[in-house]
Amino acid sequence: MKLDLTNGIVSKKECENKELCEKVKEYHKILHSGDYSMGTTWVDWPNNFDKAEFEKVKELSKKIKAESDVLLVVGIGGSYLGAKAGIDVLSKNQGLEIIFAGINFYYEDLASKLEKIKDKNVTVNVVSKSGTTVEILSALNIIEKFMKNKYKEEYKQRMIFTTDKEVGYLRKRANAEGIQTLTVPTNMGGRFSVLSSVGMLPFACAGLDIDAIISGAKSAYKELLVDDIKNNFAYKYSAYRYLINKTLDKKIELFATFNTKMASFSAWLQQLFAESEGKEGKGLYVCPVTFSTDLHSVGQFIQQGSSIIAETFINVQKTKQNSVLSEISSDSPIKFLEGKTFNDINDAAFKGTVKAHIEAKVPVAIFNIEEINEFNFGYMVYYFEVACAMSGFLLGVNPFDQPGVEQYKAQMKQLLKR
Ligand code: PA5
Repeated sequence: MKLDLTNGIVSKKECENKELCEKVKEYHKILHSGDYSMGTTWVDWPNNFDKAEFEKVKELSKKIKAESDVLLVVGIGGSYLGAKAGIDVLSKNQGLEIIFAGINFYYEDLASKLEKIKDKNVTVNVVSKSGTTVEILSALNIIEKFMKNKYKEEYKQRMIFTTDKEVGYLRKRANAEGIQTLTVPTNMGGRFSVLSSVGMLPFACAGLDIDAIISGAKSAYKELLVDDIKNNFAYKYSAYRYLINKTLDKKIELFATFNTKMASFSAWLQQLFAESEGKEGKGLYVCPVTFSTDLHSVGQFIQQGSSIIAETFINVQKTKQNSVLSEISSDSPIKFLEGKTFNDINDAAFKGTVKAHIEAKVPVAIFNIEEINEFNFGYMVYYFEVACAMSGFLLGVNPFDQPGVEQYKAQMKQLLKR
């Protein structure tokens, strides 16, 4: 993966200024101090991950694949977005169907998912670090009835709780009722937990190569061990984000892709950055867009609206499938496309969009990724975790908490207790 900041408006020199370089070195030390208490277990995870747990995931996934057609993952926020990103980005249609539930309170959504799987064999993976999340426990209430109805008392053998290793309601229940468990590592927040069992069980069940995912993350870990902006392109990107916000007053970073498979990855990035940075009136709001679809909805604003937007493209260079446009009649408005492939057109749309948006003075950063595979997915996950943590530090916020998320829950509980 390569980062191109040629059209980022802020210069390389500005990104590598002395003050930023010194700050980055200081925060790098904090990240790599070995004291995980602030929520940094993920930092050396690609190197130090729990091998026994990893093997347990592999064994469990074999059993689930032999017994089930569907893995119903019940998780929200960081307990599902990373897993969904990997499944959507890498999907090979080889393993189980992975369905995500517990992601809202809209009953028809849950009901339609259960209706869809009613005649299939199902394993349920409930993922909640805290074990207290209301969306999860409410969905579980319904899902357990569905499972009990289907499998009678045996249903608990088809349940796996991925949760804290010691505390919380799910851990307590699992211990009391003999339900199988996996662990969300201590001091690893949901949005930083993709490379733990939170993501790995769904990935393995979907037939993805989890060894390659962790190898990719390890490769990024090694490359990003350096503390200077010049040689650490995650920190360079953090410095760039910091500067477009501070000096150009940009408020929104659009994560744009012309590869629809990457849309879920951008959704995980949105949560990663929003929950990590959006505090104390600070932060760049990350917004995923998929082009060319969204060029026909928000393209106008990007080109000519308020000048609050920066754009970061994730450009996947190789794709697996392609097709040529042929036999186009001479009076067709797309006659000029004869002999061109869909990829040629998509690539021209990408380059043309970048050119147009640069002309409109939108700062443009481009990540070029050769192809989508497990190794590169692991690499990207770790890369963006590091870049996000450093972005938060540079803004002067704690990237590892999310105090603002609690407020809607408190209000909702008050209303329901009446
Ligand atoms: O990233 C985070 O920490 C959050 O988005 C959580 O993952 C989310 O709120 C769900 O929490 P839990 O896993 O405790 O159910």
